[in-house]
Amino acid sequence: MTDLVVRRLLVDMEQPIARHWCDGDAFRSALFNALSMSFPVGEQFFIDSVRNGFKALPPGQQAQFDAEVKGFIGQEATHRRLHALYNAHLDKLGLVNDWAPRAAARMKLLDGLDPRHAVALTAANEHFTAILADWMLRNPDLLGTQDPRLATLWLWHSAEESEHKSTAFDIYRALGGDHAWRITWFRRITTIFLGDTLRQTVDNLRRDGTLWKFGTWKSAWTTLFGPRGLVRETWRPWREYLKPDFHPNQQDSTLSRRWLADNASRYTAVGA
Ligand SMILES: [Fe+2]
Ligand SMILES: [Fe+2]
Repeated sequence: MTDLVVRRLLVDMEQPIARHWCDGDAFRSALFNALSMSFPVGEQFFIDSVRNGFKALPPGQQAQFDAEVKGFIGQEATHRRLHALYNAHLDKLGLVNDWAPRAAARMKLLDGLDPRHAVALTAANEHFTAILADWMLRNPDLLGTQDPRLATLWLWHSAEESEHKSTAFDIYRALGGDHAWRITWFRRITTIFLGDTLRQTVDNLRRDGTLWKFGTWKSAWTTLFGPRGLVRETWRPWREYLKPDFHPNQQDSTLSRRWLADNASRYTAVGA
């Protein structure tokens, strides 16, 4: 069981966002903006899945998960609220969020199915966010210094993703979810998540007029496959999810705890 604190981040999301807020780098700005576009819809789905999974647990087990589920929902609700403000600025920059409606249509296909499917899907997505979060916390300089507000937002979100990475996974197990379905959904989510990330990033660059610039492709290569590249650094932790005895807590959360301790002045704990 994890003690999950809901935090109010002290950043002003009313101010507009610069087109290339991430170090003046078109590719990294487009990639992180694409991910942000997926969050309000995606995180609402995670909240609903975990809530429905929790309700399907026998009362004895509900008591065991009660505080953790409340913390999970509070954290994800706060993330989606701030990313919705972030995304409203992206709309004004002329970017179009195609990911969210596509994801919403796919989620409808789960209506009426055993709630374990949605929880397994959430656990798979949470593994993706946790390994992405750890990569960001290890490489905070890649967020640049141009907009400290957005760098803080991403690192806070990362720290909390790492903090609650076990919640959906543990509920899936408590519901008697099996390994085969866990892996089936993980493989599907891998294809869907990578495809959606790529499509939205390319679309952001196209609308930005930077898709066919050499610097964009150079940055794409370095960001994904360079010495500290996202694909290069997350490949191994991605694969660990396939092990039958995998548990999210096997992956280190030191950087999350450290960021939250070192940046306590940037947030207030809700209800504390
Ligand atoms: Fe989140
Ligand atoms: Fe999450």
